[in-house]
Amino acid sequence: MKSQPQRILVTAALPYANGPLHLGHLAGAYLPADMYVRYQRAQKRDVLFICGSDEHGVAITVTAEKEKITPQAVVDRYHAMNKEAFKNVGISFDNYSRTSLPLHHKTAQEFFAEFHRRGILREKQELQLYCEKDKMFLADRYVEGTCPSCKYTQARGDQCENCGTWLNQAELIDPKCKLCGTTPIVRTTSHWYFPLGDFQTRLEAYIKERSARDGWKENVLRYCESWFKEGLKDRAVTRDLSWGVPVPVPGYESKVLYVWFDAVLGYISSAKEWAAGIGKPDKWKEYWLGTDTKYVAFIGKDNVVFHCIVFPSMLMAWNDAGREQYVLPENVPANEFLNFEGQKFSKSRGWGIDLQDFLKHFSADSLRYTLAINLPESRDSDFYLKDFQARTNNELADIFGNFVNRTLAFTEKTFNGVVPSSGSIGPLEKEMIAVLADAPTKIGDLYDRYKFREAVIESMNVARAANKYFNDGQPWKTSKSNLEQCAMTLNTCLQVVRSLAILMEPVVPVMAQKIWATLNLEGTPSAAGWESAGELKLQAGHSLKKAEILVTKIEDKQIEDIIEALNNPAAPEQPKPAIEAKPKISIDDFKKVELRLALVISAERVPKSEKLLKIQVEIGSERRQIVAGIAQHYKPEDLVGKRIAVVSNLQPAKLMGQESNGMLLAASDSTGKLELLTVNGDLESGSLIK
Ligand code: MF3
Ligand code: ZN
Repeated sequence: MKSQPQRILVTAALPYANGPLHLGHLAGAYLPADMYVRYQRAQKRDVLFICGSDEHGVAITVTAEKEKITPQAVVDRYHAMNKEAFKNVGISFDNYSRTSLPLHHKTAQEFFAEFHRRGILREKQELQLYCEKDKMFLADRYVEGTCPSCKYTQARGDQCENCGTWLNQAELIDPKCKLCGTTPIVRTTSHWYFPLGDFQTRLEAYIKERSARDGWKENVLRYCESWFKEGLKDRAVTRDLSWGVPVPVPGYESKVLYVWFDAVLGYISSAKEWAAGIGKPDKWKEYWLGTDTKYVAFIGKDNVVFHCIVFPSMLMAWNDAGREQYVLPENVPANEFLNFEGQKFSKSRGWGIDLQDFLKHFSADSLRYTLAINLPESRDSDFYLKDFQARTNNELADIFGNFVNRTLAFTEKTFNGVVPSSGSIGPLEKEMIAVLADAPTKIGDLYDRYKFREAVIESMNVARAANKYFNDGQPWKTSKSNLEQCAMTLNTCLQVVRSLAILMEPVVPVMAQKIWATLNLEGTPSAAGWESAGELKLQAGHSLKKAEILVTKIEDKQIEDIIEALNNPAAPEQPKPAIEAKPKISIDDFKKVELRLALVISAERVPKSEKLLKIQVEIGSERRQIVAGIAQHYKPEDLVGKRIAVVSNLQPAKLMGQESNGMLLAASDSTGKLELLTVNGDLESGSLIK
């Protein structure tokens, strides 16, 4: 490794406070960021780990409209919920802020005002879509249409999610207002633009330099290249919305900053909040303005352009004034996406598991381990519940947990819970100790190079080697035949247990701390220092605490229950479809229709028809046959005995050769579900329905 920087600043993408976090979010940015930070802390490097809620933008206001509450209520709810979820899964932010804070508004406005004052921003009139019904401009996600470049039909006003193209909303084919579904009109409005194109040459040089120095990931470089190839263009940084950071320029009172303009600056305001919170209000500058800071920005792949292009160019623009010099990301180790049981996580389709729900059933460390092993570092990856169970039971419990437990239990039984002395070591010990000695550098190097999956695999390999060492040493035999030999085996195993606590802490912090406490050691594994995992630090004679179970195995039933719940979800909330009303009719018009209660006597399928049932009903003293298209919704036998509503004065008709004398009434919704109108109680058949 090259010489280490003085400080490391780590940010993780600010999640929108418009819904609960799910496992995909965790695998995309937060878990790798946390593992990196925990490792760096163990290395005794000066790290600041920053995050917070992204509380502006149309993602939030759309949720507010759907739930019929204010945007503030939306962000209050999800900010609290997500902050708690992060805590429960052990993400160790130094500060988790929120962009609705005055401190953040002020920071974002300072950047905008500075760019405005220096003439960097350009004002332009542009054509925007305006909904006459909702009386508003349709920014970003308020409009949906067909992408002119890939023809995806659900492209948003600012970007096509399918092909990633940035759109000018006026280019959308067949645009529709997301609120009311009508076709918007085009109107002019004015906005301020940031001249991204002016920065292209410098951005390309910046990325080239940093990637050569710190090894950027292939996937990230590919995304950047495609943006550069297309050519960067001016980008509007204001919006016609009322929720967001007000634009600090006269004439723009009804507008706010574009959410991405303010969100990335949230990293800075969150650091300011952290500094104020520890009573050293200027301390954030040591990280953001320090010449010897390494800044690493963890994100998911959909955020690459904002962190590799937009944010750096904003910082360059600020730095050009020659005053404060902000650090630019040294690396942006973006992950691809995690799928869940073979499908994309989807809030609207209700597919996936919220983090909080998951943690109600399973331990955070088991989740962290499985996600770490499956991180989508270079391509999309999958999370399967069966795999989660297998990883937990066969790896975390059977390899790591088992080694720790058998070592501690054996020491308790044979040496009264006291570290035995090692004596002079043999070839097996030499081998084991060599594995330990190499581990901190080997694994540390993987962490420093953002190869978290491999880092965890290598850490587990230490536990694998340790299990083999235990087996080869056969302490259960030597305890009877050669106690000195047995002591040496157990001494070495206990040293490995201590080392594993340090090496595994970035991925399974709760388990690591538990081991540390059982070893009766002071402080935390990371405070002992990463390098000390390669050393034999436990002294003979040191007494240990009683061992507890480290990893709880997951039963088949637990997994089956979750899969079952997934396959029968509570219906995801859909906005109620607008009803299409027919022209009004008079009461006399209505009275022409005779509705009566009918009792179903028998029913059978109409041969060769998938849809039709032939139903015999009793209406008072009369028997009739009604043919109805409900075979896909009701089995014939289920109808018998039902008391249903029918139109009894409809002219008879023939359906597939069968006479139908009357019509039954049913309701069906936009999803195609259908239910007959039935009457409870014991009213006589033939009763009039009015
Ligand atoms: N809220 C955005 C998302 O969830 C990420 C914002 S990252 C930041 O995709 F840099 F803008 F903070
Ligand atoms: Zn509308």
